[in-house]
Amino acid sequence: MKVLEINGGKKLEGTVRISGSKNASVALIPAAILADSEVTICNVPEITDTDALAEILDYLGATVKRASESIVVDPSTIKNKEIPEEMSNKLRASYYFMAVLLAKFKHVEMYFPGGCAIGARPIDQTLKGFKALGATVNEEGNRYVIDAKKLTGAHVYLDMPSVGATINTMLVAVKAEGETIIENAAKEPEIVNVATFLNNMGAQITGAGTSEIRIIGVESLEGCYTEVIPDRIETGTYIIAGALMGDHLKIDNIIPEHVEMLILKMKEMGVEIEVGPDYVIVSKTANLKPVQIKTQGYPGFATDLQQPVTVLLTQCEGKSILEETVYENRFKNVPYLNDMGANIQISGNRIDIEGASNLTGCQVEATDLRAGACLVLAGLLAEETTKITNIGPVLRGYENIVEKLTDVGASIKIKEEN
Ligand code: EPZ
Repeated sequence: MKVLEINGGKKLEGTVRISGSKNASVALIPAAILADSEVTICNVPEITDTDALAEILDYLGATVKRASESIVVDPSTIKNKEIPEEMSNKLRASYYFMAVLLAKFKHVEMYFPGGCAIGARPIDQTLKGFKALGATVNEEGNRYVIDAKKLTGAHVYLDMPSVGATINTMLVAVKAEGETIIENAAKEPEIVNVATFLNNMGAQITGAGTSEIRIIGVESLEGCYTEVIPDRIETGTYIIAGALMGDHLKIDNIIPEHVEMLILKMKEMGVEIEVGPDYVIVSKTANLKPVQIKTQGYPGFATDLQQPVTVLLTQCEGKSILEETVYENRFKNVPYLNDMGANIQISGNRIDIEGASNLTGCQVEATDLRAGACLVLAGLLAEETTKITNIGPVLRGYENIVEKLTDVGASIKIKEEN
């Protein structure tokens, strides 16, 4: 069994370079199938989630070449095959293949996708989008058979601004006949990245990044080149590391606007932070003030940073309140933080954090990706040694996390233990 071992209390100084966005890459890689010729995607992080998608592409018959930080896909040899459940349930993003195979072949058979167990995470809005565009969906347990004689543009109103449903509807609409309007679309930067990629292929999408996206379908899409945006959640995670243990820690190669809410909240706490055009510099600051945070879709406070920021809230003097409005079950990190010495009460979708607390390392488990990130941050801050078990989820989302933290002064390693 692999464990992450951290000896906390080390000052972090120097520069962390942020990788390409996981949640953009995992949509761009399946989207490559829509082109009729070779596609190059640059700045793709080497994490197990992107590996899993490259494996699916390979299984479907595409030619996939992986070079450092880029992936080249020739989808011209692709076959429409059912993706085995053990491949699709490795991650949520496998359901982008539902959309692209439907758009390309008008028929797809696939299982319910995987992903972190942080709530029910239904896919009804994605299916609603497919149906609006002319598809019929048959559910056989957790397996879906989706067919369309013809895909036709439509007016789609999403009941909630779901990232996945917005991307999936867009992926099908680019090849449907006529105009599609997605209302109440999610506005996350990853959606803009996908729309730009599709437009580079020849799609006609406007309004990505706003709540109304318009797409005029085209008959074919051509190979192109695109670049993945910096990972805003990785960015946020390292900014928090800087606020916990940094001595002018520089977080570089970022789009500060994408983490604006986090930066504003940190300024409200009193964290010393300098914001540059594509970097921030952040230092551990004494006497932090407590704050209230509520997670929301972009540009609100990102749910994916909720668990990481909880560690910082344990260092504020007084009571902070954090409300999680996106997922029903995203506090699995809290009992472990309390084991380390935090004072956090869970009530429904809200936690009350009484600080400041001294944290001490112990054995904890990464129950999901961002819970794992939270525990890594807690380990960096804590006295003594923190051992994190079940590190698979962390490696799904953070490229070279051990190397990046070691380079700026942390004492962290992956160990094999029985
Ligand atoms: C994406 O998940 C991200 N994953 C998540 O990142 C992120 O937390 C989430 O967006 C919100 O920002 C990827 O991009 C691969 P949603 P997604 O559809 O698309 C409910 C991470 O840590 N909902 O916007 O699955 C759903 O249950 C991860 O990197 C429905 O009810 O999120 C949730 O409560 C985890 N029906 C909310 O909406 C639907 O059909 C938002 O989900 C779809 C969603």
